[in-house]
Amino acid sequence: GRSILEAGIFTPEIFAELADRTTRLLDARPEPIFRDEAVVMLFYQPSTRTRMSFQLAAIRLGAQVIYTEDAGKFSSAAKGEILEDTTRIVGGYRPKALVLRHHDEDAPYVVARNFERLGLDVPVFNAGSGAGQHPTQAVLDLYTIERELGRTSDVEIAFVGDCRYSRTVRSLVTLLIQCPGAKVHFVSVPELRVGADVRDALDRAGVPYTETDDWSDLVPRVDILYMTRPQKEWFTDEAMFQSVKDRFVLDLPTAKRMRASARILHPLPRNEEIALDVDPLPQAAYFRQADYGPPLRTALFQMVCG
Ligand code: CP
Repeated sequence: GRSILEAGIFTPEIFAELADRTTRLLDARPEPIFRDEAVVMLFYQPSTRTRMSFQLAAIRLGAQVIYTEDAGKFSSAAKGEILEDTTRIVGGYRPKALVLRHHDEDAPYVVARNFERLGLDVPVFNAGSGAGQHPTQAVLDLYTIERELGRTSDVEIAFVGDCRYSRTVRSLVTLLIQCPGAKVHFVSVPELRVGADVRDALDRAGVPYTETDDWSDLVPRVDILYMTRPQKEWFTDEAMFQSVKDRFVLDLPTAKRMRASARILHPLPRNEEIALDVDPLPQAAYFRQADYGPPLRTALFQMVCG
């Protein structure tokens, strides 16, 4: 099908076309190819950027957007309806796309398979699924790397913070292993080490990687420092969360040790892992990264649904 379920769908060729279209959309309005059409957004987890940038993309293409605040509370999921039934109904409305954020990492696959079984030709866009995948964030991250560094090859990157539960880390690694010369580091406390599936993917691709809880040598060395938020929602033990949450904080003195050409990325939202006075540094690329979201998701709609 045409669904965007995981980052692996973005081959180098597809990424190149998406990047090219995104760059053209930075200062041009798209043709309204969705005029008189609907796009459905179902978000069972909170979101600012992903939801609003998908919405903005749909609106710029001429669509009307159908959504509820907090689908877990305000859709009939609150009355016990299963995801297959809810999405069967909205799929039957024949929207141009269904954009789904869900706490279960299987949810996008369940919906896409159900649509296929029912003969509903509605592409599903995974807008973040549990600790699994966040494919449109990953491709946005790679686009930002290309714009900021001028290349996607020979990139040395350190993922910092939550390497275990972060779907953005897992998804971006899927894209980095396709980029020649990638070198990857994971900086975290032992409790937040990257998963075996990610390590296996790197091993299979022959991409060198390290795991460490000391980032002092990496800060002045890497091209990309990819900061992540320790996610409170994954911790059942409050004391454990408190003990790990401030372990890697990018404050101004630390950020000033980075190379002039290096860049800081963060999928956002941030908590306290990047100090506010880092924001004016030229290396701080995380708000530019977020700004590319609407044009990139517009380009993605064009390619999938155009
Ligand atoms: N990066 C990201 O997914 O942000 P939101 O949770 O605000 O959508």
